[in-house]
Amino acid sequence: MNEKAQKRLLALHLSPRRDSNSSRLLEVALAGAAEAGVEVISLWPIELNIEPCIACETCFSGAPCPIADDMPRVRELLESVDAVAIATPSYFYGIPSQAKALVDRCQPFWARKYILAETLPSRPAAVIEVAGSGGARAFDGINLTIKYFLDSIFIDMPEPLSFRHIDCEPKDLPEEALRAAADFGKRFLSSLIEKEK
Ligand SMILES: Cc1cc2nc3c(=O)[nH]c(=O)nc-3n(C[C@H](O)[C@H](O)[C@H](O)COP(=O)(O)O)c2cc1C
Repeated sequence: MNEKAQKRLLALHLSPRRDSNSSRLLEVALAGAAEAGVEVISLWPIELNIEPCIACETCFSGAPCPIADDMPRVRELLESVDAVAIATPSYFYGIPSQAKALVDRCQPFWARKYILAETLPSRPAAVIEVAGSGGARAFDGINLTIKYFLDSIFIDMPEPLSFRHIDCEPKDLPEEALRAAADFGKRFLSSLIEKEK
């Protein structure tokens, strides 16, 4: 166990299925987190009350978003954690709609960065994505949305771990995919610890 200050990682599970392929793969990836001294805070947008952005532009002046729901806590976590991990399925080449509402409601971060010239520290991120098809461009839409979502909080888009031809129940995920997620997670967690040394 790492004796240094515990790191906090926000795990965003974007599938509306509470028990989902992408969620299971992320959980496998982060299985060693406690051992590595990393606290995982997991959120499922489907379980949160998140209204869509209405483009009122209140945040453009730095004023708080006027919509009263669960987003203040989500934004507080996105701003304060040491790392972010995202798991998502492909839904019509994009992320599921509940998750897209969360992303759109990060417009206050975009305003802080691009209008108000504020900065946040950059932090590491991991992305796991699954698609039922084998299409070469299955993740193009997802990757653009996640890239610019992360950009708003000063995080560079990492190389995602992508799984095609995954259309099963989570209990039936291929061993090969579970092994790949575990290896990916180990590398990611050790990069977080390395960063601290
Ligand atoms: C509404 C909906 C849209 C989908 N769109 C796509 C798609 O565009 N491309 C694709 O390859 N799979 C698509 N799928 C299949 C899912 O990506 C696939 O079943 C995935 O394994 C689900 O992951 P999850 O269990 O993490 O939610 C779609 C599934 C649903 C329910």
